[in-house]
Amino acid sequence: MQQNSTHLVLGASGQIGSVLTTELRKKYGSSAVIASDIKAPKKESSQMGLFVQIDATSYDALLNVVKSYNVSTVYLMAAMLSATAENHPSKAWDLNMSSLFNVLNLAKDGFIKHVFWPSSIAVFGPSSPKINVPQLTIMEPTTVYGISKLSGERWCAYYNKKYGIDVRSLRFPGLIGWQSSPGGGTTDYAVDIFHKAVAHQPFECFLAKNTALPMMYMDDAIRAVIELMESDSKKIKVRSSYNLGALSFTPKTLYQSLLPLFPNFEINYAPDFRQEIAESWPQSIDDSSARNDWGWQPQFDLKLMVEDMCSNLRNK
Ligand code: SER
Repeated sequence: MQQNSTHLVLGASGQIGSVLTTELRKKYGSSAVIASDIKAPKKESSQMGLFVQIDATSYDALLNVVKSYNVSTVYLMAAMLSATAENHPSKAWDLNMSSLFNVLNLAKDGFIKHVFWPSSIAVFGPSSPKINVPQLTIMEPTTVYGISKLSGERWCAYYNKKYGIDVRSLRFPGLIGWQSSPGGGTTDYAVDIFHKAVAHQPFECFLAKNTALPMMYMDDAIRAVIELMESDSKKIKVRSSYNLGALSFTPKTLYQSLLPLFPNFEINYAPDFRQEIAESWPQSIDDSSARNDWGWQPQFDLKLMVEDMCSNLRNK
C-alpha cells in the first residue's frame, strides 16, 4: 500500500521531519516523498528532492500541494515543543491544533488516505504514574504542549471512529539524534550535551542531575514511524496514540556515560523553568501495547546510542 503512495512531510526542516524525509526517500524513492516546511530548507537537503514552502495552518495551501502531487500519506511533524510553547501559549495551541485539523480534514474530505501525527510523553502530568506509565492511565498535563497533544490524541481517535480515517500516532519520548538540531524541547539537554562534549566545551544543564526522563535514539524513532505506518491496519488497535519506550536516564547518567570518551568533559547543573516541566512527566514508559499490536522493539541502549552519536558528530 505504502509503496505506491506519494508521501508529504510537513515540518520537513525540523528535528524529526528532516531525518524522516531522508529515510522515507531512501525507502520509497526521492520522487515519492515531498518535503515541506514554513521555512526554506538548508541547501543540502533541498538538493535531495522536491521541497514546497507552505504553512501547515492553511488548509488551502495544503490542499493545493496534496492535489498537485497526488499525495496519499501525510506526516504532520510541524509543532511547537514544550519549552517554547510555555512562552507562546496561544500561538502554540493555534499551530499544533489547526495543522492537525487541516490534515485530519484532508483525510475526511477524501483527498488523502493515511496520516501520521506524533504525540508525546507530555500528555502525562503530575498525577500520572512516574514509572512504566501505562497506555491507559490518569492524564492531566500541565503544559500548553501537553494539553495540545492530549487534545490532538482525542481528535485522532474521534476521526478514526466517526469517519474511518486511517490516522496513526506515537507518544514520543525525548529524541536524540546527530542529524538535526533540536528546537525548544525540555528533553533537548540530552542532544546539546553531545555537541558540547564533542566540541570539548563545558556543558551547563538546564535540568537537575537526578531528573530521569524517557528517551530514544532518533534511528529507533524513525523506524517506529515507518513500521507503524506499514503495519496492517487491523493491527492498529490504539487510534489515539501508542506509548513508545526505549531508554530512561538522568543528566548525571548521560554525563557519566560520556566520560570514558571525553575524560575532561565538565558539567554543571543550573535548573530553570524546564525543571518543573520535566518533573511533571513520567520517567519510564510501558509500551506493551505497541510491542503486542505491531511488534515494536527498540534497538539502541544507552551505550550504543552514545557511541553512535559521538562517532557521527565527530565525522560531521
Ligand atoms: N521532546 C519533547 C519536548 O521536550 C517531548 O515530546 O518538548
